[in-house]
Amino acid sequence: MNTFDENDLRNHPRHEDTDFSKMVDTLVSRRDWLGVAGAAGLGLFFGGESLAKSGGPAKTAGAVGPHMGFSPIASNSLDTITVPAGYQWRPLASWGDAILPGGTVFDPATRGTPTSQSLSIGDNNDGMSFFSLGPDHAVIAVNNEYANYEYLFLNGRCSSIDDTRKAQAAHGVSVFEVRRVGGVWKLQPQARLNRRITANTEMRLSGPAAGHAWLKTQADPTGTVALGTFNNCANGRTPWGTYLTCEENFNGYFGTAEPLAENNAFKRYGISAKGAGLNWFPFDGRFDLAKNPNEPNRFGWVVEIDPMDPTSTPIKRTALGRIKHENAEVVVNADGHVVVYMGDDEKGEHIYKFVSANKFDAKNPKANRDLLDDGTLYVARFATVEGKAQGEGEWIELTHGKNGLTAEVGFKDQAEVLIQTRLAATVVGATTMDRPEWVAVHPTQAQVYVTLTNNSDRGVKSNQVLNGPNPRAKNVYGQIVRWMPKGGDHTSNQFTWDIFALAGNPTLHKDAYAGSSNITPDNMFNSPDGLAFDRDGRLWIQTDGDYSNAKEFAGMGNNQMLCANPETGEIKRFLVGPVGCEITGIAFTPDQKTMFVGIQHPGEKLTPSHFPQGGDAVPRSTIIAIARRDGGVVGA
Ligand code: FEO
Ligand code: CA
Ligand code: CA
Repeated sequence: MNTFDENDLRNHPRHEDTDFSKMVDTLVSRRDWLGVAGAAGLGLFFGGESLAKSGGPAKTAGAVGPHMGFSPIASNSLDTITVPAGYQWRPLASWGDAILPGGTVFDPATRGTPTSQSLSIGDNNDGMSFFSLGPDHAVIAVNNEYANYEYLFLNGRCSSIDDTRKAQAAHGVSVFEVRRVGGVWKLQPQARLNRRITANTEMRLSGPAAGHAWLKTQADPTGTVALGTFNNCANGRTPWGTYLTCEENFNGYFGTAEPLAENNAFKRYGISAKGAGLNWFPFDGRFDLAKNPNEPNRFGWVVEIDPMDPTSTPIKRTALGRIKHENAEVVVNADGHVVVYMGDDEKGEHIYKFVSANKFDAKNPKANRDLLDDGTLYVARFATVEGKAQGEGEWIELTHGKNGLTAEVGFKDQAEVLIQTRLAATVVGATTMDRPEWVAVHPTQAQVYVTLTNNSDRGVKSNQVLNGPNPRAKNVYGQIVRWMPKGGDHTSNQFTWDIFALAGNPTLHKDAYAGSSNITPDNMFNSPDGLAFDRDGRLWIQTDGDYSNAKEFAGMGNNQMLCANPETGEIKRFLVGPVGCEITGIAFTPDQKTMFVGIQHPGEKLTPSHFPQGGDAVPRSTIIAIARRDGGVVGA
């Protein structure tokens, strides 16, 4: 569990709204059905004939799914990367590596200056995309989610305007070219497309909420020009070649020393006078809520960036809603409409879908540039039948004037629905989920998977009673749920869902906390977070969990990456990360012979890591490249 999330949740307890799923069974009876059925009972929903019988995705007769030819690895708590036999890994780029003219070599004695940081790769690499420029040349865009103050600052604190500027420069997005030389992908310092986007880069707000009164500030009376992006968690990649970066825990950067009036929206988004310890507001008035109460409304968006034009202005797409965005999974529906699936990562928050009004035109790239400005936003409601780990669901439209979204309940127009998306979702009866993280769409089948990472409030808070896709109280392990749009149509308002995997610990438990039948002592993990398909339909699962290797998590070791077969439910461990890290961010070369994986915050909270350099080096978040020694497709 990432430190930021922990701080955020501790400092900003969540709302207590009622949930439609209260009608579902009580905590006790749900625990009973899972307890009685246990792992074996849930096994009904996985593998072989039972998968088809369960109402899961349609299966071609005899299909076995993608090949996963590697030998799975054991868990461990080592301070290095472990990959299967026949594979190798190398660091590609680390926090503090210079990418712009004037940049300097990372200095462990100072950890850099505001200027050197603004010319170098930011901290905590997270979601990333690979944009090919030729067989041996590409540009990578990668999020820099937040900063590890325990390493960024020698005293571990942000305590001046200089510190604030350095922290702001460590956030945002890094864009850099890579070239394959002698079979090895290498960062190209000072290449033409290299760029740093930080918490101070000028951006445009576009779409239905742009220019709304709630987005106006003293510095920007137009409500259309925002400065910067931060807490960029996961990502998306559009078919027209742009990068989507998603603003997640933006709330904690704001605060004030002044008294703050009660405000429902601030409460729901976790915005409070004390902030989350990032400490920008005492030094940068933009983040002082008393001075700039609308500034936080300019964050929590999906931002579109053109990685091929370093002079382009990033665009905040307000049509996609304002939540704590995890990723933005883009799929072009059969009829050409662009569909974007999105999770809102907080306990008891929701899953969203955007459907573009216009259609993607592969022959006219320019016509696609503003597809994300005009469309319909939906939120998911999962219907639950007691005793069943599958069911039906629907997408509920978040459009002003529909489904009760009227001025009487606080929404004067569509802009207000979009700026306070969470409040609108509650009005329409969205299902509260166990912290929705990444969403991934199968490359050839109409199946969508989401990681629900964990939720200590499930079954505890009144708005988070147990429900079908979130079936366990005090859920420390997390699960992966999938849904199948009706008729294979991603624009349909209806879907069916089931549970692909309930993470758990079968060495400790015999009930539902042992996990589903595809979880074994050899592949167990907790807190699935990053999630992506490769071209062949292998599902890659990355974890951001408890790496203590003790108690509930005994035997799980460090955070890890696994590979799953969506047809059979088989899951194999592929990678174990170093001490104190999270594994997050994944991208492939088009030939799938190199996979890029993010190692975020090794050594966080001063856990003993010196990754990647070893010795007594300062640990640094790093993107690694993984390849097979025989040059084959990764994972196959
Ligand atoms: Fe940034 Fe939800 O992880
Ligand atoms: Ca996380
Ligand atoms: Ca994440």
